Amino acid sequence: MAGGPMAAGGGVGVNAPQNKLAGILMTVFSAFGGILFGYDTGVIGGVKEMKDWLRTFGHPDPSALTGFSISSSTESLVVSILSAGTFFGALLGAPIADHVGRKNGIMVACVVFVIGVAMQTASTSIPLFVTGRVFAGLGVGLVSCLIPMYQSECSPKWIRGAVVSTYQWTITIGLLLAAIVNNGTQNIDSHASYRIPTALQFVWAAILAGGMFFLPESPRFLIKAGREADAAHSLSRLTRLAPNDPEVQAELDEIRTALEAERALGESSYADCFKMGQGKIALRTLSGIFIQAWQQLTGINFIFYYGTTFFNNSGIKNAFIVTIATNVVNVFMTLPGMYGVERYGRRRLLLIGAAGMCICEYIVAIVGVTISVDNLAGQRVLIAFVCIYIAFFASTWGPIAWVITGEIFPLQVRAKAMSLSVASNWLWNFAIGYATPFLVNKAPGSAGLQAKVFFIWGSTCLGCLVFTYFCIPETKGLSLEQIDVMYQNTWPVAAADFRRQLMAGEVTQEKAESNHSHGEKA
Ligand code: BGC
Repeated sequence: MAGGPMAAGGGVGVNAPQNKLAGILMTVFSAFGGILFGYDTGVIGGVKEMKDWLRTFGHPDPSALTGFSISSSTESLVVSILSAGTFFGALLGAPIADHVGRKNGIMVACVVFVIGVAMQTASTSIPLFVTGRVFAGLGVGLVSCLIPMYQSECSPKWIRGAVVSTYQWTITIGLLLAAIVNNGTQNIDSHASYRIPTALQFVWAAILAGGMFFLPESPRFLIKAGREADAAHSLSRLTRLAPNDPEVQAELDEIRTALEAERALGESSYADCFKMGQGKIALRTLSGIFIQAWQQLTGINFIFYYGTTFFNNSGIKNAFIVTIATNVVNVFMTLPGMYGVERYGRRRLLLIGAAGMCICEYIVAIVGVTISVDNLAGQRVLIAFVCIYIAFFASTWGPIAWVITGEIFPLQVRAKAMSLSVASNWLWNFAIGYATPFLVNKAPGSAGLQAKVFFIWGSTCLGCLVFTYFCIPETKGLSLEQIDVMYQNTWPVAAADFRRQLMAGEVTQEKAESNHSHGEKA
């Protein structure tokens, strides 16, 4: 858990009780939810191209490679309906997290997800398949909101960023697994070709739900729910200290004090997520909503959703292999991100990542528009810079957008503000996925940008840079309650010094609050 022994009465602690490894591993386990996320978003692209799937769900089409096809509208329905589910799933994340709990909410999400998977596996016609995609999407949306919330609330502060980054890592593994499994079953000439990759998701859900059953609930949720004894028990499991150990009690005090201060300001509603004033809640909620939007606007899913087509059009043979390669880069480059987020900090990495992606994307755009499709050297440069771009994403914006979303909100509005932020991720995910063919394709009615689309992504990365500079403070090494104090007392762009004082124990929650009230009186 974050925080530690404090000044009596609930000051912000300096010496965090370092959770024993078991506690950290428990929290890391929940990252398995990322597999559901990555695999489910990745699997459909391959499934809908499979011959048996097209024969079952489509209609005969002599001009198609497989002899069968589905209409474009059905295709976009099958792909994008998941986003509708995920969007609403993310929004449902708030009431579920606050009423059922973080841990139980994740198990509920698994049940919803499994219903969707069962429908897709059993179906041989579009209506049931599409309904299954909606349910699976609801499950994925819930998971994508609840996992980073659970992880942030259960991790010790010194490693919280790395723990939440494990969730991004499993998303990337899920994406890669989907590509591999699809490749393995695509040529089976029966329903097994799509049923195997689809039904494998039962396994992911069973592992996640089964594991979560044994994990403790978030102590912060339990305090908020007024279940004091359960909170002490849960924190004791996470820290391997006795429930009445002074360190456990001190940390519970810290959470309680922060919550009481927030409650003194009144009940929390969605409107409170946009409250102006001392806690800068509106700024924080908007920062969460925008960091998720900007993460999508880096253009990353252009590569993961349309990469194969893009590489084909650029004259690259073996586009499928290149797709696997981009996925592998994504998986492995998340690892330095997990290290870097605690070593170099969130803000610095977000700035470096945005600059790096911006440069790579402009280079891809310039190379893409200047070389001819049979220029082998040019194609290699293009692939290389796409991979470097993914490496920048995977080690910075991929994980850190989730880390920031999990830690910048105060407890009273955390579930609501997080669910709004995650819903923004899915909304932009959908919007970009939907708009891309119209931007890129040469077909009538489309803009025909082809590689020039990377000029857009390069420019949006500039936007990421400016946004980070003004809106994202450094939060590394602070407890969730200390982050709250920091927002109350300073602005993101000027927060470095205040953070240093918090970490050195020169500022406590009480001192900060009393300074503030003196300031207000003056
Ligand atoms: C994003 C996804 C993306 C994935 C790629 C996630 O953080 O939210 O949209 O597909 O990273 O690794």
